[in-house]
Amino acid sequence: MASLASKLGFLAVLLSLVATGIGERSDPEAYVTLLYGDEFLLGVRVLGKSIRDTGSEKDMVALVSDGVSDFAKDLLQADGWKVELISLLANPNQVRPKRFWGVYTKLKIFNMTRYKKVVYLDADTIVVKSIEDLFQCGRFCANLKHSERLNSGVMVVEPSATLFEDMMRQVNSLPSYTGGDQGFLNSYYADFPNAHLFVPNLSAEIRNSRPQPEMERLSTLYNADVGLYMLANKWMVDERELRVIHYTLGPLKPWDWWTAWLVKPVDVWQNVRQKLEESLPGTGGGRNPNDQLLVNILFALPICALLFCFYRNHLQTNSDLFCTFSRSSLCDYARRIYYEFKSSSGSPSYSGVGVASSSTFNSNQQVLVHFCRSYNII
Ligand SMILES: *[C@@H]1O[C@H](CO)[C@@H](O)[C@H](O)[C@H]1NC(C)=O
Ligand SMILES: *[C@@H]1O[C@H](CO)[C@@H](O)[C@H](O)[C@H]1NC(C)=O
Repeated sequence: MASLASKLGFLAVLLSLVATGIGERSDPEAYVTLLYGDEFLLGVRVLGKSIRDTGSEKDMVALVSDGVSDFAKDLLQADGWKVELISLLANPNQVRPKRFWGVYTKLKIFNMTRYKKVVYLDADTIVVKSIEDLFQCGRFCANLKHSERLNSGVMVVEPSATLFEDMMRQVNSLPSYTGGDQGFLNSYYADFPNAHLFVPNLSAEIRNSRPQPEMERLSTLYNADVGLYMLANKWMVDERELRVIHYTLGPLKPWDWWTAWLVKPVDVWQNVRQKLEESLPGTGGGRNPNDQLLVNILFALPICALLFCFYRNHLQTNSDLFCTFSRSSLCDYARRIYYEFKSSSGSPSYSGVGVASSSTFNSNQQVLVHFCRSYNII
């Protein structure tokens, strides 16, 4: 009996050990993005949904800085992101665009040492086809743009404390052609343009028979920017093989409503946005409950104003200046005709047109107002 109890006790201990082991085990690979403020929140939500839509179950980590609201953090968490607070890394460059004050923070992905490999994606990218093969890429992979510059919008990184510390040592001495992280990385990986192209799905045999490359170059399919589309009004790569779309163009971000009919690939982004789940109340389809109230007010305001004016006019109280203005535009045309008619038969008094209020109406204007009223113009 005693032996059975001890066996059971042993089993329980064993089970609990296994359970904690499973509980703590984290995927050694993760997708990572960065958020500096709420402006790109919707971008990150859509990116996350697009990753999950490709069937990936890997960790998704959002590194967020001080500027991000609690609401945004809760929402990302509800969407399935692991939200991690980070402090900003100061930008050492004196000459740089103002919006670049915190971009060196991106280098912190090289310090995410609890992961063996991370695929970093900017918040203005979207995954349209599985990119799980990227986790096979070498120690550092990125895509070349502007001829021989690497673009830091999509990167595969093997985090390492040594590497990160080495970068931090050189942050103040290496030049940055952009004044930001991308320029720094181009200096740090100065030999990058000579890197070989990453070939996905190489057989394990070939992969293991060669030393792991320090750097590999990603095909445009993994970082296709909309600028590329706009040059020829079509993707200049095989569209069916497209993996990641990057909405690089400065003011044309897909979450700004006016971009939809300027840049066609925005449709792809909007389709994912519309399917966003309601992970917090009122957030389905990418809506923000705070914004929604403002939108409703802005929508209702002109209608209320119009109703108010009609109401006042029906009560024959036309002393309200605001209503006079809206009425004046309606009646302006009629007045003009009236005065033109008058000027051909007598001397016109044109001074009060447009801003007349009832107390200063002369007899001609009274006639005009009656004209407007009788035809329901005001
Ligand atoms: C880098 O990571 C280590 C270990 O997680 C941490 O202690 C350190 O503060 C990190 N460095 C920076 C600059 O974030
Ligand atoms: C690599 O293999 C995966 C899984 O079979 C597949 O989804 C992916 O499309 C392949 N990548 C390429 C570039 O063929």
